[in-house]
Amino acid sequence: MSPQIPESNVVLIGFMGSGKSSVGRELARRWRFRFVDTDAAIRRRFSKSIGEIFSIYGEDFFREQEHEVLREMLGQQRAVIATGGGIVLQNQNVALLRRLGRIVWLTASPDTIWERVRMSSHRPLLQNQDPRGTMDRLLQARSPLYAAAADLTVDSSGLLHCEVADRVVARLLERRACSRNQS
Ligand code: S3P
Repeated sequence: MSPQIPESNVVLIGFMGSGKSSVGRELARRWRFRFVDTDAAIRRRFSKSIGEIFSIYGEDFFREQEHEVLREMLGQQRAVIATGGGIVLQNQNVALLRRLGRIVWLTASPDTIWERVRMSSHRPLLQNQDPRGTMDRLLQARSPLYAAAADLTVDSSGLLHCEVADRVVARLLERRACSRNQS
């Protein structure tokens, strides 16, 4: 197998607006992997947007679905898996992510994230009177969870999606070289 192609699935985690879906699609295209996305799987299940699912059934229900679709993804091979920003809130999800593949945390500075999410209307958690404050609070609370789950971290601030994909590829290769040297 080409050394550029990962030996396992690659799972992308990170806050809303960190580029998981766009970078994930780019990586899948390069490696000819399948691209799967937990939010898209949930949307398909109900033929509804994430906003509709939150408002009709509530967040707890959405979190249950998130866990279900992740479980259904076990057994995937040659896949890039993009996850919703809250996937790390459940420890049981993190355990599943580890079984699925290499976990890459896409980070970005708070200002970068804000610029990316401020105009979006499809993120229910930010549809309130103080979206920036909410974003900052969630980011602070979740960052340690992403850090604890991640095998490696790539900062996407100021980069195009294809540049972030380049970095992910490079970091995965570094890791592989390391594990070869250590064995
Ligand atoms: C969420 C992030 C969203 C989506 C849902 C909840 C979160 O996905 O799963 O709105 O809790 O951070 P993105 O990270 O793709 O925006």
